[in-house]
Amino acid sequence: MLANAGHGLGHGFLDQNFDDVRHVIDTNITGTICLLQKVGRDMRARGRGRILITGSIAGFMPGSFLAVYNGTKAFMDSFSFALRNELKDTNVSVTCLMPGATDTEFFERADMMDTKVGQDKKDDPADVAKAGFDAMMRGDGDVVAGWKNNLQTAIASVTPAGMLAEQHRKMAEPGSGKK
Ligand SMILES: NC(=O)c1ccc[n+]([C@@H]2O[C@H](COP(=O)([O-])OP(=O)(O)OC[C@H]3O[C@@H](n4cnc5c(N)ncnc54)[C@H](OP(=O)(O)O)[C@@H]3O)[C@@H](O)[C@H]2O)c1
Repeated sequence: MLANAGHGLGHGFLDQNFDDVRHVIDTNITGTICLLQKVGRDMRARGRGRILITGSIAGFMPGSFLAVYNGTKAFMDSFSFALRNELKDTNVSVTCLMPGATDTEFFERADMMDTKVGQDKKDDPADVAKAGFDAMMRGDGDVVAGWKNNLQTAIASVTPAGMLAEQHRKMAEPGSGKK
């Protein structure tokens, strides 16, 4: 099972429409874990299965101007490792794919094309998908696609949260991209 559906939502939290906020949470968390429970039960009963959950390296940093989205990805990154552990004595594996900024419709749909991260060069989605698929087939716990993202994740793990939030502002604040 590939639990990949998800979307972002740019702009400051207080300036967002709450229906849009709820939709991010409903899609990225509620809908995703609802499906995971149904399919996961079938896999456990059958005695085998592979699950790939698309989390994000965004789950490691407070996402100023993408706050709710990053929170949903922190949830999914954490949930993935917990579910993996719960299923460790079964033949059902759970893998968390943690991409960095990837060249998809994501930033346009999140209304972030005027931001630095929205305009910067991004990873090839085919490479990211392959890294995730291969990790799932190996039964790995997680995969961060790309060496730059691995470096960013390692730095994030030793950087204070307030500093990470400030760094995130620089790339995600509306108007932070080139005019
Ligand atoms: N792009 C990045 O930089 C990046 C980085 C880290 C993680 N991710 C994660 O990667 C996953 C895929 O995103 P993407 O980058 O490929 O963005 P995308 O091009 O916008 O694709 C999003 C996908 O999710 C589906 N989706 C969105 N909302 C849905 C809903 N409410 N119900 C059912 N399907 C829904 C979309 O289906 P439709 O096309 O039918 O709407 C589409 O297939 C997401 O979980 C995202 O958070 C992306």
